[in-house]
Amino acid sequence: MSGGAPLPEPTKEPILSISDLKEAADRKLPSLVREFYNSGSTDQRTIAANSDAFTKYHLRSRVLVNVRGLDTSTTALGRKVRFPVGCAPAGIQGMAHEDGELATARAAGRWGVNMGVSSFASYAVEEVIDAGKGVVETLDSGGMGEVVGSAYAMQLYPMRDRALQERIVKRAEKAGCTAIFLTGDSPVLGVRYNEWRNDFRTPEGIGFPNMERTSRQIRESTHDDGFAKMNDDSAAWTTEIKWLKERTKMKIFVKGVICGEDVRAAIESNADGVIVSNHGGRQLDGVPATIDVLEECAAAAEGKIEVHMDGGVRKGSDIFIAVALGAKCVYVGRPVLWALAYGGQAGVERMLEVFGHQSKLLGSHGSRWCVETPEARKQTIISNLEEATAGLWGMVLRDEHYQDFLWTFIPDFMTGAHQELEYNSNDDIWIYNIYSLKGNHELVRDQKARNSNGEHMRW
Ligand code: FNR
Repeated sequence: MSGGAPLPEPTKEPILSISDLKEAADRKLPSLVREFYNSGSTDQRTIAANSDAFTKYHLRSRVLVNVRGLDTSTTALGRKVRFPVGCAPAGIQGMAHEDGELATARAAGRWGVNMGVSSFASYAVEEVIDAGKGVVETLDSGGMGEVVGSAYAMQLYPMRDRALQERIVKRAEKAGCTAIFLTGDSPVLGVRYNEWRNDFRTPEGIGFPNMERTSRQIRESTHDDGFAKMNDDSAAWTTEIKWLKERTKMKIFVKGVICGEDVRAAIESNADGVIVSNHGGRQLDGVPATIDVLEECAAAAEGKIEVHMDGGVRKGSDIFIAVALGAKCVYVGRPVLWALAYGGQAGVERMLEVFGHQSKLLGSHGSRWCVETPEARKQTIISNLEEATAGLWGMVLRDEHYQDFLWTFIPDFMTGAHQELEYNSNDDIWIYNIYSLKGNHELVRDQKARNSNGEHMRW
């Protein structure tokens, strides 16, 4: 037996990853709820693709980079967040835990991440925000010194009953929401076989207070019928953003966009942002994984509006890849529901802890970001400069480029040098302006250039 320090005790913590949370929730939830939460639509192609697609990307890490004091915080919805993750507006959280969205808000507030409140939330938006703020007030007085508190977005479907829709908007704004997530991907409800087989109805005692619907009223019809009666299937780009902008100062994000054309439509309609999302594979089955269309959407945004994304994010590396491909921030839907089922507020806090820890670990491995086409590179580089200085940045290579990728760049963000990148389209050249401070505080500019194949150029 050799001497030395004893080995650490094996951890007793049962939840080390998001798949641990899913397993714990699956064991706890009745099949009607489990299937409602976990399933996608029709043949389950898109829901499977959402998570699988992340495995096509690899991280290209650097070594001997000073990562002490790494900071993963950034801003999203106009607020500083501890890392670029938020809780997606997934409905009926009261089925996962009796505290439902109240527990989610408390956890999000403690962890300093943002939250979307579904129109189909089990609690009223006022109560949800109060719960989040209440927790933060306690923390502030305790002087945690970390990023705490959340921005809130009210998720909205275009509704037939415009008077009710207006009431929801006004209530949300008064309660403290700073954004609307207008879900555009649901002119009709996705084909969800589990709901038909199980005759899914929201359990007794759970209402939709934001929609002004009691549990009894909801249970009178199937989910499909109830949705069809509520939802305005005539909604269009030409009408919806304008309608909202005339009634609120909140930022308008369109949720459910999966192509560049719709990002451009969002810009033309005066929206403030988009959420690249396929509703977690619950709407039109067969649409691509969101991570695979993110780059196209970010390029179409041209930095004019914020691009967020959701769908299949289950690991810190998924967040990292999404940020590298142009997302300002990502949202998680099912992980929140599993976490709630596992342990209410404590469960959601554990989920955020797992994501936060994994994000930090990646940054600490000196991972850096990049994607492969010159145009996308430019876009990603520009949109991620802020992230880079915040410490969370990645380098992402698609499978086909993994072996032969030559391009290395921006070697020392973390050492404090400031760098700017220009793209000279006449010469198809990337120019790096590298500013550093010499000992006597003199600002020195060094320029380097590479062509789009990654070869050094004379400059
Ligand atoms: C959702 N989602 C959703 N989206 C929305 O705009 N309004 C809603 O009411 C709901 N409700 C809802 C319920 C459940 C059970 C799920 C799983 C999802 C979609 C959600 O906001 C988000 O887009 C996805 O959940 C993201 O994908 P992941 O993280 O679940 O893979």
